[in-house]
Parts: sequence; C-alpha cells; structure tokens
Amino acid sequence: MVDKALGTGGRKSEKDLKIRLKTAKGRKTGSTKWLERQLNDPYVAKARAAGYRSRAAFKIKEMDEKHHIFRQGMRIVDLGAAPGGWSQVAARATGSTDANPLIVGIDYLEMDPIPGVTLLMKDFTDDDAPSMLIAVMGGKKADLVMSDMAWPTTGHRPTDHLRIVQLIEIAAAFALDVLAPGGMFIAKVFQGGTEHELLHMLKRHFKTTHHAKPPSSRSDSAEAYLIAKGFKGSNDTSPGEGEYDR
Ligand SMILES: C[S@@+](CC[C@H](N)C(=O)[O-])C[C@H]1O[C@@H](n2cnc3c(N)ncnc32)[C@H](O)[C@@H]1O
Repeated sequence: MVDKALGTGGRKSEKDLKIRLKTAKGRKTGSTKWLERQLNDPYVAKARAAGYRSRAAFKIKEMDEKHHIFRQGMRIVDLGAAPGGWSQVAARATGSTDANPLIVGIDYLEMDPIPGVTLLMKDFTDDDAPSMLIAVMGGKKADLVMSDMAWPTTGHRPTDHLRIVQLIEIAAAFALDVLAPGGMFIAKVFQGGTEHELLHMLKRHFKTTHHAKPPSSRSDSAEAYLIAKGFKGSNDTSPGEGEYDR
C-alpha cells in the first residue's frame, strides 16, 4: 500500500512527502525497501522526465561532463546495455542514427529498440559474443568500450567479488582487441574490488587510468567506475599514469 504521509497540522515538509510503503504486519522486505527507495529517488524521476530508460543514464552523463568521454561520430560498444540508458545518452552525444549506427549494445535481457543503436541479445561471456560484436561493427575499430555489467549478487561476498572481477577481465580483454589507438575503456568496478593485476595491465595499455564515483551513484553502494583513456594500441605498453578521482 502506498502512503504519502502528512505531518502534523497539515503542513507538508519534504520529509513528510516521502512515499512510504506499508506491508502486512508493518515489516519491510528487501523488495519493499528497494521499491520505496526507487519511488523516492530524484534521479528516477529525472530519468523519466528526460526520456531515459534508467537512472544509470545520469552516471554516464556525469562522467562525460567531468571526463569528456563522448564526441560526435565516435564508435561505441555498450556492454550490459539493458534497459538502455547509457546507449540512449551515447546515441544522442555521438549523433548516431539508424541510417548510420555508431553504437552497438549487448545484454542477455531483451530490450526495446533504441534509435541509432544496434542491439544484441546475448550473454557477453559466451565464446562467440566478441566475434558477433565485431561483425556487427563491420570489422571497424571502436573508440569506446563501456561496461556497466554486473552479475546479480549471490550474497556470498567472496563469490560476488570473484565473479565481478572475472567479468571486468573479459570486458578489458575485449576492449584491448577492438579499440582503435587513442580509444577509451570504462567499466563498473567495486571499490576495493579492482584487482591490482587488472589495473596494472590497463596502465600498461592506456595513457591514463582513473577511478570515478559519479554523484548519482548511490553513496551506500560500493560501485565505482574505472576510466582508462588513450589506448596505446597493441605495441606500446610502457606504464601509464593513474589516480583516484571521486
Ligand atoms: C546496471 S545494468 C546496466 C544499465 C545500463 N547501463 C543502462 O543505462 O540502462 C547491468 C546490465 O548488465 C547486464 N549483464 C550482466 N552480465 C551480463 C553478461 N554476462 N552479458 C550481457 N549482459 C550482462 C544485466 O543483464 C543488466 O541489464
């Protein structure tokens, strides 16, 4: 049941206007708490108003404002694209159209079409997924590989940690394969979860590596993003620079 609580005397304070959900016996389940948070999240409302399919759209927009990610005409691969917020932002920022699509998105979940984006419904960890993405790109190199992928959590932290690291490693290997020199790799990581080895490897292949925590990424979430810029191409692997940016 949805309850828009009113304070005393009929005056509504911002706190009072919060939507609270009542459950049987007054107890809140995890899904009730999640729904309550969604209903009260300003980014969810902002996303709806701006025509974005997810609040995640603001994470990539904020990273773009700070780190200058997008430019007109660039080719992009969006890993873990559903429901499509990042792809929508990317298509608008690059000028991608259905006649000349510059963005390819992959997810194992079904997605509604997005103008200017070619979508593959497939598990990215399938052996044939990389070659399928390359085929969709017509064999052309990408300027940006961006990954917002995360497995559903099991609740067992060591298992979750290993699974996310494995996913990032596969995404990073794919990026090294398909990026044009000067290209960029962005991946969702979890704070304390970016493996030294992976970071070390990325530093060898990219001129700069940053960690970012965009304001719309919930502060109680360990989620962060790794932004690696200036792909050196397959031959130059001298060490690059790194810093932590919040
Ligand atoms: C946080 S959501 C992405 C949100 C998206 N960036 C947006 O703006 O709408 C993460 C997505 O990664 C997808 N995903 C996770 N593992 C995947 C895999 N192995 N292959 C393809 N998609 C995957 C999930 O299905 C989910 O849709």
